[in-house]
Amino acid sequence: MIRNPQLNANGELTHLLTLEGLPADVIRHILDTAEPFASISEREVKKVPLLRGKAVFNLFFENSTRTRTTFEIAAKRLSADVINLNIGVSSTSKGETLLDTVDNLVAMNADMFVVRHAQSGAPHLIATHLNQHRQTHVHVVNAGDGRHAHPTQGLLDLYTIRHYKREFTNLTVAIVGDVLHSRVARSLIHGLTTLGTPEVRVIGPRTLMPTRVDAMGVRVFTDMSAGLAGCDVVVMLRLQSERMKGTLLPSAGEYFKHYGLTPDKLALARPDVIVMHPGPMNRGVEIDSAVADGERSVILPQVTFGIAVRMAVMSIIAGN
Ligand code: CP
Repeated sequence: MIRNPQLNANGELTHLLTLEGLPADVIRHILDTAEPFASISEREVKKVPLLRGKAVFNLFFENSTRTRTTFEIAAKRLSADVINLNIGVSSTSKGETLLDTVDNLVAMNADMFVVRHAQSGAPHLIATHLNQHRQTHVHVVNAGDGRHAHPTQGLLDLYTIRHYKREFTNLTVAIVGDVLHSRVARSLIHGLTTLGTPEVRVIGPRTLMPTRVDAMGVRVFTDMSAGLAGCDVVVMLRLQSERMKGTLLPSAGEYFKHYGLTPDKLALARPDVIVMHPGPMNRGVEIDSAVADGERSVILPQVTFGIAVRMAVMSIIAGN
């Protein structure tokens, strides 16, 4: 049997690559571990020594604002040494393979790699390589790979939903927009279904839906009004134009008319609905400013919770 490479022989988390197939008790353990870290920002001393003496390398082969910065803050709050590799001037731009770069950083005593890459599977490749070369003390966290997975975003989304709604087993959650290109949507769908959310909906035009998306346990809506009716949580997605090949939409204006979240459309959801967005947000394309900045929006708390969740992930995998 091929073992899940992110779990060790005892079923403990040793890398975080995807939420797909991750047991519910492991996800709950991460969310529970994040709880005390969320209040650390209120303390005078914001650091704990859990990763003291460890070297965390941020390898971001794709742009990032929130993920990269919150991983750096999280690692520093855990007292790790953080090294941000400047990919633009690293040896990968001279033709060195990804795994040769990794081997060289391991030779510099790296303890953890936080990896974002445009190619789906890149963090998985690194983790498998480290496992095969008996470097099991070195850990990999996927910070977003292609359109495959963004597990810490999925976890911070789950943390945010649990914070505001307490439990998952009575919720209707809608994920709206460019599901086809979205690693955020995939990770959140896996997390929500694993934790027992009874109704997960995806809403968007057919051209932006993966084929057989219903096999992931979601209900598919192409009509925004029908999809939003009665929702407890609405998660808006960015149009991933950098991953689109050819024209999948008539225009941004036409998209906003049908799928942009406005106050009128949001009124179809439950009165206590929360509105989420992973960022970066395109105002006037997928979301109206009146909603993004409105009283139902929890978009900025998501970012803050991301620090605590990333602290939890790094401390758990380093502990194993
Ligand atoms: N949500 C997210 O991944 O944002 P960044 O691209 O800014 O990291």
